[in-house]
Parts: sequence; structure tokens; C-alpha cells
Amino acid sequence: MTRRFAAALLAVTALTCGRTDQSRTQPPPSTSQESDIHTFARPDEARVTHVALDLRADFTAKVLAGTATLTLQRAEGSTQVVLDTSKLTIDGVATSDGTPLTFRLGDIDAILGRPLTVDLPPDVSAVVITYRTSPEADALQWLAPSQTAGRKQPYLYSQGQAILTRTWIPTQDSPGIRQTYSARVTVPRGLRAVMSAEQLTPDGVDASNSRVFEFKLTQPIPPYLIAIAIGDLAFRAIGPRTGVYTEPSMLDQAADEFADLEKMVTAAETLLGPYRWGRYDLLVLPPSFPFGGMENPRLTFATPTILAGDRSLVSLVAHELAHSWSGNLVTNATWRDFWLNEGVTTYVELRLMEALYGADRAAMLDVLARRSLNDEIERLGGMASPDTILHVDLTGRNPDDGATVIPYEKGAALFKLLERTLGRARFDAYLRSYFDRYAFQPITTSSFIADLRTHLLAGDAALEQKLKLEEWLYKPGLPDNAPQPASPALLLVEQQAKAIGGGAAASSVKANQWTTQEWQHFLESLPGEMSLAQLSDLDRTFRLTDRRNSEVLFTWLRIAIRHRYEPAMPALERFLTSQGRRKFLRPLYEDLMKTDWGKPEARRIYERARPLYHSVATMTLDPIVKGT
Ligand code: BES
Ligand code: ZN
Repeated sequence: MTRRFAAALLAVTALTCGRTDQSRTQPPPSTSQESDIHTFARPDEARVTHVALDLRADFTAKVLAGTATLTLQRAEGSTQVVLDTSKLTIDGVATSDGTPLTFRLGDIDAILGRPLTVDLPPDVSAVVITYRTSPEADALQWLAPSQTAGRKQPYLYSQGQAILTRTWIPTQDSPGIRQTYSARVTVPRGLRAVMSAEQLTPDGVDASNSRVFEFKLTQPIPPYLIAIAIGDLAFRAIGPRTGVYTEPSMLDQAADEFADLEKMVTAAETLLGPYRWGRYDLLVLPPSFPFGGMENPRLTFATPTILAGDRSLVSLVAHELAHSWSGNLVTNATWRDFWLNEGVTTYVELRLMEALYGADRAAMLDVLARRSLNDEIERLGGMASPDTILHVDLTGRNPDDGATVIPYEKGAALFKLLERTLGRARFDAYLRSYFDRYAFQPITTSSFIADLRTHLLAGDAALEQKLKLEEWLYKPGLPDNAPQPASPALLLVEQQAKAIGGGAAASSVKANQWTTQEWQHFLESLPGEMSLAQLSDLDRTFRLTDRRNSEVLFTWLRIAIRHRYEPAMPALERFLTSQGRRKFLRPLYEDLMKTDWGKPEARRIYERARPLYHSVATMTLDPIVKGT
């Protein structure tokens, strides 16, 4: 970086942060180690500060087409702006008054896509890019009517995290480059568009044979949080600033499942400070949505597989809501720092569950989470595996490779350790002040640790020694000072599962009042090897194959595969072909592929199911099932 650019960068950053007290709020100067390796952007030269979209959705061609007008903040002497794109067709670039600008698309990088470089004459502070997306855009899933609940209208939704926004918007797609946005979206009549932004025209405005929806978000966000969905959507309010969108036939069920939504937001504010995004709504998507949830600002996207009918899976909503602070307000500066998004969020998720549903429920979730962490460490190659490091090395890799259980649960365990060691009062005060200090800014692992030392540990050497922070952040495995979760209720469940191993009949298990979490733990605690007679005894007694709760069914199906329990195979096929959540799909296909009999089954089912899945899921599953 030249000195002139460096100086200009400081000015630009100060402007972006909108703060005056520089000594307190200035992020540390970026070193090469801390810059984002997953972007082509050079924000120290020219930085995108606002994205204005004008797009039309063509469901026949599976294309979004129109313009993106980018507002730029330029360093003195800069001559270019570099943007991220992937699979986009660029029809032209011009200034706001229509003067064409020269641009170049660079070579394709298999992970990053293609840089778009635009030459900037002096004084140009906005560029208008005319473009269209590819039907293969990784962020977008275009669903046929048959893939929706209503089966009458098509559907489109986007998934930006981690680096997929560049497949539908040509901008600087880096989590450290915050941008505000606005959008005008034209959709076929009969459909409704929603975005992760304020709705300026909630019901849309009629245009010829189409409807136009307008949005704006005044808070600057990382581009992976720009999101859109278009479909036959209905809305129901839950509280004054909360509600749920979904297809009309699912609305009653969704509104009932999330009845506690407003209370959750209030509980989060008590713990973390004011909710700064205005509304908090949920969008329950069609079943192919590859994630449990995605924390798009003002509008969390969620899988319908959490509609359990008994509100037992709402910790996912607590999680996505918590991202309104950890992630959306204070954002991982690079994908290496992803554990700061997910670890803090997972910690807060548990605190919210405790606040709303009590310590017993939270303890159960904590025990289940620790088991999933232990399983993941094993899957990744054990306690010495570099992929178990929080500050994970993603050089030459897709950031998605870092999205394991590690950043979530090892990250959360660190925050639990801090809480236990310092006491809740002190830790809670710190957490709240952290969100205020870094609001609307990126955070790196090293700036986090520095902040922690300044504001929480305050030079206490004994405390430092006890915490082993460096080991937590930069070493593999789980440090031996990790707090051990314990749930008396789950201990009882565990004893009964062990009794099955000792030959007890299923009818001897006292399971009448069990919650979803107890069922999950029971199934996970059953012996690794059982007879088919034992499985069918359990199945007959507890109707496990017929379960509708996705988490319980998933755990049971893994047991069924392990034992080749044929009576569950139709349910397995139904599960794999009726929802596309990667967390469920990957282990099930992996389990099948591990056995001789399961391999052809996996391939047959995958062939049938693959068109249902989002590219995020097929990118993970293709190598597992097809070996490509
Ligand atoms: N932000 C994540 C989803 C994500 C992570 C998308 C990485 C793309 C790359 C979201 O908040 C999340 O963590 N979802 C979880 C659910 C949560 C309760 C653990 C999921 O989808 O399983
Ligand atoms: Zn998350």
C-alpha cells in the first residue's frame, strides 16, 4: 500500500464509521494477515458505501437483470474500483449521467469468481452496472411451483453467506466492507418480494403485468447480508415489531410455533442493549433451504424443519436473533474470524434460552451441543487437527470449509469459560460494552483479544494464566479448562439408554413427559451396536420411524442406517427427498456411503433429490455421493 493510499484509507475508515473519537474506535491497521483473502476488492483505493439495485425477476429464464448503482468513496489519486463477481454477465458500466466507463473482467478463480475492474475518471463517485445473473448463480435458488407448499407459484430466494452475494450483485463482497442498500424489484403479478431491509411499498405497486417493490436499509451491513425472497407470501404479526412471513398454507403453523418472538427480542435487548434494526421478522422458506437459519437483517430466513408443532426447536430463532448483535452489528472482518460471529451468537443463544425457558432447558441444549462438538472434533481428525483451531487457516479454500461445529461450539465454550471465570455481572457488562464499542464495525481475532485484555482482564496476570486464551484461539483441540456442561434430566435419560444396552425392554423406559431434547439425548446415548430385535422393540414402543420432529427423526435415521434397519428406509428416503437442510443431509448420505448396501441407495436417492437441493448443499454432497 502506498503511503498516500494508507492515509486516505484512514480518512475513509473514519468517515465510514461515523465516529469522532478515533483513538477509541479506529480498527487496528490491517496487516496482510488480517486482510480478507476471499475478495478481489481493494477498498483502500475505492470503497463501495451504498448499493442501489433495480432488478427484474424473470422466472422463465431464471435470471435477475437490471442495474446496480454503486456509490464510491475514493482515496486521493485512485483510478479504479475493483469489484467481486461470479457467473455474472456485465452488459455495461457507466457514470450516473450515462457516460460509458471502461471495465474489464479478470480471470476466473474457482473459489473467488472474477474481479470486475472499472476505470474511474476523476470526480466520478458512482458507477452504474447493467448486468444479469446466470441461472446457475450459487446464491439464488429458483423453485418451480411443485417445490413450494402451495404448488401454484414459483419461488426465488437468495443465500449470501459466505461469498455468494457476488453471484447476484457486482459489489465488494467482503464482510469488512459495510454498505447500505436500496432496491427496486419488479416481479410477476401475484408474487411478493421481501428483502433484508425496510419495506417502502409493503404491498407493492402495480406496473404492466408485474408488481414493483421498493426497499431500503440505512444501517451499513456486510454484503453477505443482502437478501431477497420472492413468492406467494403471507404475513402475520406476532408482536408490535415482530411477525412471520411464509406461504399462506403454512402461516397458522408458523405463527403458533414462533408465538414467543416478541419476548425473545425483549430478552435479547435486556442482555445486549437496544435492538438497532427496527423490525424483527421471520421468513419460513420452502423445505430446500440449505440452512437452519440465516440472520438476514430485519428478516431472518428459516427452514420449515423447525416447525415441530410444540415450539421445541425455537433455539434456532434465538440464535439468528442473537446475530442482530454478534455478526450483523459487530462483524467478522474476514472468514477466518467467523468464530467471532458464531461463537458469541451460540453463547448468547443459550443465554436467551435460559432467560425464556429456564436453566434446565438451557443445560440440556448445552449437553447436546458438547456432544456435537466432540463428534465434530473426531470427524475433523481429532484433537490435533488444524481445522479445530478457532482462528482457522482458510488459505486456498472456500470459507464454507470453515463452517464446522468448531466456530460455534468451541467458540461458545470460550465465552462460557469467560462468564464462569469472571462472573456473570462482569462478563455481561463487558459483552454489552463490546457491542457498543464495535457497533457497525468489523472485528478481527487479534482486535477482539486486545479488546478483551483492555476492557475485561485489565492486566490481571493470574486471570490470563487461568484462561489460556492463546491456546483457545490459536491451538487445535479443546483446552482442558473448558466448562463441562451438565444436565441432571439428561443424566436420567442416559441411564435408561444404557439399560437398553444391558438388555432392558423399551417398555421399561419412562419416557412419557420427555421433551425433544431428552429424546435426542436418549437416541444419541443408545449403545453403538444393537440387535434388529432391539431396534424394532424401540420403534414399536416409541413410533420413532413415524416421528415428525426433524431433529428426533434425523437422530433415529442415523441409528437405522448404522444397523441397516429396513423398516425405516422408506422414512429415510422421504426425509432426504422432502427437505434440503445440509446439516441433516450430509451425515445421512455420509453414513449411507460408508456401507456396501447403502452406496447404491445413496446414489439412487441423491439422483432423485438433487434437483430439490440448493447449490450450497450440492456443493457439499456431490463429492460425498458422486465422488466429484
Ligand atoms: N450464519 C449461519 C448460517 C451460515 C453459516 C451460512 C456459514 C453460510 C455460511 C446461521 O446463523 C447458522 O448458524 N445457522 C445454523 C443454525 C444454528 C442454530 C446453529 C444452521 O443453519 O444450521
Ligand atoms: Zn449463526
